[in-house]
Amino acid sequence: MSVWSQISAAVRELEEGRLVAIPTETVYGLAGNIEHPDSIDQIFKTKERPFFDPLIVHIGRINQLEALVSDFPKEAKILADHFWPGPLTLVLPRSEKVDSKITAGLDSVGIRMPSHPLTRRILRSLKSPVAAPSANRFGKTSPTQKEHVESEFPNADFFILDGGSSDRGIESSVIRASENRIEILRPGPIGAEEILSCFREYSICPKIEYVKSEAAPGHTPYHYQPDIPLVWSSRPTMSADDLMSIQRNLQLSSLQYRYLELPSDAQQAARVLYSELRRLAKTSIDFILFSTPTELKGDWRPLFDRLERASSLHI
Ligand code: TXA
Ligand code: MG
Repeated sequence: MSVWSQISAAVRELEEGRLVAIPTETVYGLAGNIEHPDSIDQIFKTKERPFFDPLIVHIGRINQLEALVSDFPKEAKILADHFWPGPLTLVLPRSEKVDSKITAGLDSVGIRMPSHPLTRRILRSLKSPVAAPSANRFGKTSPTQKEHVESEFPNADFFILDGGSSDRGIESSVIRASENRIEILRPGPIGAEEILSCFREYSICPKIEYVKSEAAPGHTPYHYQPDIPLVWSSRPTMSADDLMSIQRNLQLSSLQYRYLELPSDAQQAARVLYSELRRLAKTSIDFILFSTPTELKGDWRPLFDRLERASSLHI
């Protein structure tokens, strides 16, 4: 199927209220048309996702925002101008028109304009935006390739668009922007440094803070989990005692493991994190071991956030 036929198939499916797995620059999403309430139900059902976890609405044009929000603070507008299309989700006061199932009953809605060229084309061809969580079963590792979506949903009855490997590799930064205050609810590819330098261009210096995950329901302590346990060790090597403790805690009958090795550069590490977790989980080992690297370049905060939630045990 040519890329063009894939794009028109995806547009048709979404217009008619069926789900489509779409590639984005962060991770693959499971998209449903927000004008079709059945599609939204289907997303939660397919992912086995609890209803307290709100969905992100994906737009292709900035004028779609008007119908979705009741206010668009100056700080949020600056961020949208600067980072959209891109890996940034803005949490904004929602309009009455947004289905409360999408927002999990909150009075805000998360909105993002992704930059992946195929998905961008789809979103710009559609009449309405789509809601799209990451295309994985709830609590599991997010997919960064078409094959990952297929292995998450072996009996998938929805169309999966192949857009290659996701360039960023981890989910968007989720940010609430209000007057003079920027809250990072989920750390992601766009960090505090980049946000600050964006505001500097406008000679504004809002307060930027990372806030606890309760502000972003669904960003739960156990998340992004691979199919076999991930153990996070602060030590460079394992002692016999460490191994015994792992065996006891995880109730394992044998102790075969492999290291999750990541590049020291944060952006490169993010690009391979989930595919490495998936690759290792398919080998015949009992657990995956991650040892905090000694040399780190760039902003590792979002990576540590994902690794923390993906780990079953810390030693
Ligand atoms: O990069 C991404 O954001 C990917 C791609 C597909 O766009 N999507 C994604 O969606 O990661 P999901 O459903 O896996 O994560 C959405 C999270 C929620 O769990 C919650 O933490 C936060 O975004 N969120 C969404 N709407 C929110 C709201 N109104 N207030 C606070 N947090 C919200
Ligand atoms: Mg997710």
